[in-house]
Amino acid sequence: MFVFDQPSAMQQWSDTQRRAGHIVAFVPTMGALHDGHLALVADARRRADLVVVSIFVNPLQFDVRDDFARYPRPIDDDLHACRGAGVDAVYAPTADAMYPAGFQTHVQPGPLADVLEGAHRPGHFEGVTTVVTKLFGAVRPHVAVFGQKDFQQLAIIRRMTCDLDLGVEIIAHPTVRESDGLAMSSRNRRLLPAQREAAGCVSQALDLAVHRFNAGDRDAAALVQLANSHIDAEPLARREYMAMVDPDTLAPVEPAFERALLATAVWFDEVRLIDNVVLGI
Ligand code: PAJ
Repeated sequence: MFVFDQPSAMQQWSDTQRRAGHIVAFVPTMGALHDGHLALVADARRRADLVVVSIFVNPLQFDVRDDFARYPRPIDDDLHACRGAGVDAVYAPTADAMYPAGFQTHVQPGPLADVLEGAHRPGHFEGVTTVVTKLFGAVRPHVAVFGQKDFQQLAIIRRMTCDLDLGVEIIAHPTVRESDGLAMSSRNRRLLPAQREAAGCVSQALDLAVHRFNAGDRDAAALVQLANSHIDAEPLARREYMAMVDPDTLAPVEPAFERALLATAVWFDEVRLIDNVVLGI
């Protein structure tokens, strides 16, 4: 497995592979890899000859409350996991290689980035679009795999890739969950045992809405209220938002909706977890 820490070395390797006719698939990550990330890698593996994983904790996409310094960085474990998953190359640039002195260009997302996560984390998605553009520029993949756990991120990246003619096929991979339903996340390892146990309430709340929806209820406000009350019954959980929106536009759903995204962010002390489910698929 190759490990590159400079964009030029990464580009050179990728250009050589592309010239040889190989299909290159890419899974961008911030490391602290778990089975959710590895499911994306396995998906990438099935779609291409070669798989590249990037590991970079991107300072541009963190806001003050979501502490950049505290994000886990177990690089040796991550490289070991990548080797085990048959990854061909890891791109793990230093912060200086990614943002050298004089760096000043950012990619500004559109209105998809103004709602849900974007409304609560100003500047977050501009950090994501900027770094993903740079990662695509370094890795030059044919295909890139993103998780539906970050549904809004996926929608924004799809839009950006199309709007900017980046020529990368974007693949969505379903959310991978723990046995109690908790969506896997690098942040889960920061939960104390009691918080970890309580965190199951997030996916349970979404499930309650799914069941009610499947039973025929189309009252968006009532479905949101049902999910809210389940989270609010958990003393260790503090709900930031719960919203039902159109999965394509992320605008509030119409009364007679047939498909909807129910998305939430919940705090457990200093740890912020997000989750979502698409109703009607
Ligand atoms: P990170 O949070 O490390 O996630 C990397 C990729 O793994 C994303 O596409 C995310 O949606 C996916 N993922 C995480 N947990 C998942 C789960 N439980 N099931 C399925 N997929 C999951 O997302 C980022 O990093 C960054 O914003 C990044 C795109 C790398 C840009 O910095």
